[in-house]
Amino acid sequence: MNSPALARADALYDRVRGVIPPAEWPVFAGDIDAILDLKRRRNAVILAHNYQTPEIFHCVADLVGDSLALARMAMKTKADIIVLAGVHFMAETAKLLNPDKTVLLPDRAAGCSLAESITPQDVRLLRRNYPGVPIVSYVNTSAAVKAESDICCTSGNARAVVESLGANRVIMLPDEYLARNVAATTGVDIIAWKGHCEVHERFTAADVREIRENHPGIIVLAHPECPPEVVAEADFTGSTAGMSDYVSEHKPARVVLLTECSMSDNVAVQHPDIEFVRPCNLCPHMKRITLANIRRALESDRYVVDIDPVIAEPARRAVERMLAVKS
Ligand code: 13P
Ligand code: SF4
Repeated sequence: MNSPALARADALYDRVRGVIPPAEWPVFAGDIDAILDLKRRRNAVILAHNYQTPEIFHCVADLVGDSLALARMAMKTKADIIVLAGVHFMAETAKLLNPDKTVLLPDRAAGCSLAESITPQDVRLLRRNYPGVPIVSYVNTSAAVKAESDICCTSGNARAVVESLGANRVIMLPDEYLARNVAATTGVDIIAWKGHCEVHERFTAADVREIRENHPGIIVLAHPECPPEVVAEADFTGSTAGMSDYVSEHKPARVVLLTECSMSDNVAVQHPDIEFVRPCNLCPHMKRITLANIRRALESDRYVVDIDPVIAEPARRAVERMLAVKS
């Protein structure tokens, strides 16, 4: 690599010094420099989820956040191209909100175990079995499932969305644990689907007790996709952005984030004085996104996310209804 490029990328190394060893940095520097150049030339933005690795999250992303924040940011951008450093349902949501922009997902196979757990036919069957009961779909679903739903929600606004409906009974899909965790904090009777996140379902209440025993005084934060018995043992439960905000506000001396591994790395970069204890689980779908495939996405427009207009219209309505709910 020529030296001006190396110098430009190297200036970014300070941001991630705490989580990326110096020996690994040269592997990233060339792609980072090329991506920064491509973004400028093509009027592109990179939206990155909180589970993206630090070299993506801190060095090339323009906007970062949880699913709700990414959807809101997608609506506001003036760029011509949106690269979604995240998974397929996130890219579809960005496309629903930006039908006239090019949305790129760097790896077409970046899916989600929740989105794969339910089909539009399943939703139609639920509607037939529970006539008149509103259907709330987690954003971690395909556009085709959203199109069959009344409204969407994210982990950051699930309770507010459910309560906004003013119904005694609600169908919430596909995450059984999110549904049960929301039911525990509202008076609403929630009918759940049996989908699970392959990352969060692996945490147990015994894990939490063991962490507390081994790390006295630790603060335990859990994502609401964790089983309810894990959430019951945690000090705080919230979306990925909620957990990050908790750390910034409370500055605990020791903390564990029961969620995907990159989350702790990304938050730790901003809080070098906090001890992050790390039993965590990797999301294989999020980990499909790399600097190399983000670069390829911008070089050769791949992979373009398109949604059948017949599906896109009702799916967009469900997402827009969610965005209109104050949370
Ligand atoms: P957040 O909306 O909390 O970022 O969650 C998205 C997700 O996929 C968690 O597994
Ligand atoms: Fe899906 Fe779980 Fe991965 Fe989030 S962490 S994208 S819910 S599989």
